[in-house]
Amino acid sequence: MKNVIFCFSGTGNSRRAARLIAAQLGGATIVSVKEGVCSDLAEDADTVGFLCPVYEWDVPETMKRFAQRLRVNKKAYVFMVATYVAVHGRCFETMDAILREKGTRLHYGKALRCVGSQSVAYEPFPAPRVMVPYADWRAERIGREVAAKRQNRYPAASILTKKLHEKMMMPFIAVQHEYDKGFYTTDQCVGCGLCSRICPCGNISLSEGRPVWNHGCIGCNACVVYCPKKAILFQTPEAYRQLDNVITRRLGLPDRRTRYHNPHITARDLIAECEVVEH
Ligand SMILES: Cc1cc2nc3c(=O)[nH]c(=O)nc-3n(C[C@H](O)[C@H](O)[C@H](O)COP(=O)(O)O)c2cc1C
Ligand code: SF4
Ligand code: SF4
Repeated sequence: MKNVIFCFSGTGNSRRAARLIAAQLGGATIVSVKEGVCSDLAEDADTVGFLCPVYEWDVPETMKRFAQRLRVNKKAYVFMVATYVAVHGRCFETMDAILREKGTRLHYGKALRCVGSQSVAYEPFPAPRVMVPYADWRAERIGREVAAKRQNRYPAASILTKKLHEKMMMPFIAVQHEYDKGFYTTDQCVGCGLCSRICPCGNISLSEGRPVWNHGCIGCNACVVYCPKKAILFQTPEAYRQLDNVITRRLGLPDRRTRYHNPHITARDLIAECEVVEH
């Protein structure tokens, strides 16, 4: 059996779940989804999985573009697990629509509640010491269902979420490219370049040993939370300041705010192109 899981992950929650599900499947190749990456592994796979966080009640743009480029074996069992904290929105509908254009569909979808981890906006919640083991436990259960090729009706967006998406999420999506204008480094930066290597969007270059953000950011937070020196801070960019809503008023990364990443996932895990999980 050939199992492949395509995983986009900024703070490691989705990657951790991918690993646990791969183990339940009896082994799988986990491919790190990054901007511009292509893969032919799904063309003859028996099981194809998509693991990613929910962003703005939908699939992150990088994952969407990757899935659109992918060729998938029409006979494969296809599943998606989306990690989130509060609102999964329409992410399963989005992925299902992409797959249907390829002549297949989502056979199984589950939303997996994890630690909410947008460091520039809030403290990680619910408490990682409770949530990380709980999410692991649920990921293993999901893994057993996937291994049994269980089919389900994936969680759909609620009527309220559909109604509010335009009003509440579109303003953020419209200024998304301005997000990285908020990042800057402190003197703690040692020019190691890890932020540049870990960015799934190829959005960070180095100039005179300091990171430069090139406005192709989708706000995954990987650079912030994996910087070994905690040298990246954030000030609300002008475009977000102008939105002036309950979320943008909280934006900003004071030195004292916790930078959460999943404790089981290292920077090296996310930088690697792929990982083979053996049985
Ligand atoms: C840019 C951004 C947008 C997010 N949007 C949502 C959202 O719409 N709904 C939600 O429940 N969680 C949202 N979250 C929380 C993440 O989905 C959650 O923390 C997820 O587990 C992160 O996965 P990762 O660790 O694999 O990157 C968002 C996080 C980020 C960084
Ligand atoms: S990871 Fe941190 S220390 Fe290394 S170059 Fe980036 S900002 Fe500087
Ligand atoms: S610049 Fe940082 S926050 Fe933006 S996509 Fe890259 S790693 Fe993620």
